[in-house]
Amino acid sequence: VVSTSALTWTGASKVVAEKARGVNSNKGKFGHVLVVGGSWGKAGAPAMASLAALRTGAGLVTAAVPERVVGIVAGVAPELMVAPLEESGRPSDDAHISESRYGAPGFVADGVSLGNLEGERFEGLMKGINVVAVGPGLGTVGDASEFARRLVAKTTVPMVIDADALNAFERKADLLDGSGRVMVLTPHPGEMARLVGMTVKEVEADRVGLARRFATEHKLTLVLKGWRTLVAHPDGSIAVNTTGNPSMAKGGSGDILTGIVAGMLAQFPDDVKRAVEAAVYLHGLAGDFAAHAMDEHTVLATDTVTHLSDAFRYRV
Ligand code: APR
Ligand code: MG
Repeated sequence: VVSTSALTWTGASKVVAEKARGVNSNKGKFGHVLVVGGSWGKAGAPAMASLAALRTGAGLVTAAVPERVVGIVAGVAPELMVAPLEESGRPSDDAHISESRYGAPGFVADGVSLGNLEGERFEGLMKGINVVAVGPGLGTVGDASEFARRLVAKTTVPMVIDADALNAFERKADLLDGSGRVMVLTPHPGEMARLVGMTVKEVEADRVGLARRFATEHKLTLVLKGWRTLVAHPDGSIAVNTTGNPSMAKGGSGDILTGIVAGMLAQFPDDVKRAVEAAVYLHGLAGDFAAHAMDEHTVLATDTVTHLSDAFRYRV
């Protein structure tokens, strides 16, 4: 039997209230989040993660996305900065036929290139960055997965690993080691299953046991999503979330969570445990406020971001 604690306002989200933004604070105190992801056809994912990081209170947010989608991502908020990632690929002879599932006409993409991780280009990208969130919309074609693995290996600042960056470690979970650094994984049950080479059914049969074992063995924070999301810490403690509802069972909800976790880590780097727990709790609570104000059918992931204010202001 593994004991769990419930994520409630008094436990998780109080970190926000206790360490309120001081009257004389400036943006430098609240960190600079770099969101890395996106591909042709999946530009919305990094855009939503970036928007969520901004709304969570990060001092600065930059989205590093393939150059072809930079304009789309930048459009999500004028407060967002963007950094173009070079894609490997080649022009297509036939402007109407593309070999890539998400290829733009006239261009056969092969994912973000590994050159983005080298020399001055990488140093420039990482300058001043306090938190990196990688994965939303990244895709898995060409070099994208190797790019994600190398970025994880090279990064020393706190990191959130989600979506296709998790898929890059399919059956390669032994490469994920959070010792001496802050590493937060946010898999849904399907991604968790791929990571450890199990079926979704097996993952769901022992969520608590599996999450705890994985977090302690790999010395990282594991957020195992779904109804009653679990937050398992490297010290073996584990918490179960009490917020959230089926209005959030829609594309984009996970990308929003990634941005909220990154935004909280940027502001509370010395309290990782409560920062991640508060992020998970606030994400679900914002979804609950959205479903109350709107309707479970109509709520979009971005509406959850709109209702983050209600979640931050909530007191019991
Ligand atoms: N109750 C509470 N919370 C829920 C519920 C529910 N019924 N349904 C979903 N959620 C929450 C989850 O806890 C999680 O935080 O919504 C979020 C969903 O996250 P993801 O499963 O990652 O969903 P999404 O954003 O749609 O991901 C889209 O990205 O992860 C990749 O390839 C994956 O197709 C997927 C894509
Ligand atoms: Mg997801």
